[in-house]
Amino acid sequence: MTKVAIWCRHTGDNIIGIGAAIPWHVKSDFQRFRRITEGQTLVAGQKTYESFPGRTLPNRKIFVLTDDAGYEVADEKNHTAVHDIKFFKDYEGDLYIAGGATIYRLFMTGGGKLMPEIVVDCVYNGEIASEAVGLPVDITPCIDVLDAKYRQISADYEQDGITVRVLVRRGEFVDQNVLKRIVKAIEEGLN
Ligand SMILES: NC(=O)c1ccc[n+]([C@@H]2O[C@H](COP(=O)([O-])OP(=O)(O)OC[C@H]3O[C@@H](n4cnc5c(N)ncnc54)[C@H](OP(=O)(O)O)[C@@H]3O)[C@@H](O)[C@H]2O)c1
Repeated sequence: MTKVAIWCRHTGDNIIGIGAAIPWHVKSDFQRFRRITEGQTLVAGQKTYESFPGRTLPNRKIFVLTDDAGYEVADEKNHTAVHDIKFFKDYEGDLYIAGGATIYRLFMTGGGKLMPEIVVDCVYNGEIASEAVGLPVDITPCIDVLDAKYRQISADYEQDGITVRVLVRRGEFVDQNVLKRIVKAIEEGLN
């Protein structure tokens, strides 16, 4: 299986959210996220899942991480509550790690007690120069890991003030078909 983390952050301060929300609205960024993740299986923390409109994303399966044993997902056919990150050690399909900060950190670092099986192989990194006011959610620990352990394998793509690139974990074999699919999805949306 390939684990792909997909995020967009503010350049410099690594902020991905203010309170419960993403503090920018760039249509092409949301469209790119949709193209990359459509038909795929996502992993989201409970807070990020609650922020999806109607707690759903069409044409995607979602694993929702929560410690709440009674948590009810919005769509039992396509969404599954997961209470123990070890569940993903034996999961055989590709996973798109869709945040938030807590979940990126788990998968970038191996879940606290190191589980190499869940460590992210590939990162879709978006960056936007933007300012926001409120309670910041940042992913600086993930960016430290990204800088130390990953290498860029795509071009830099710029659209509507957001720069995106794809990186892979150094020394790991990463499924070329997954990488090609992500790059194609990025390039398809360029003007
Ligand atoms: N810019 C981007 O690319 C992007 C992408 C996604 C999200 N975001 C932003 O990120 C922010 C949310 O991030 P966040 O870190 O506050 O929340 P989060 O990661 O979305 O969710 C945290 C929740 O996940 C559950 N959880 C975490 N670790 C777990 C574990 N080991 N086992 C079981 N459950 C676990 C807990 O749910 P319970 O409390 O139910 O136990 C916890 O409260 C929002 O601002 C959102 O808009 C930004």
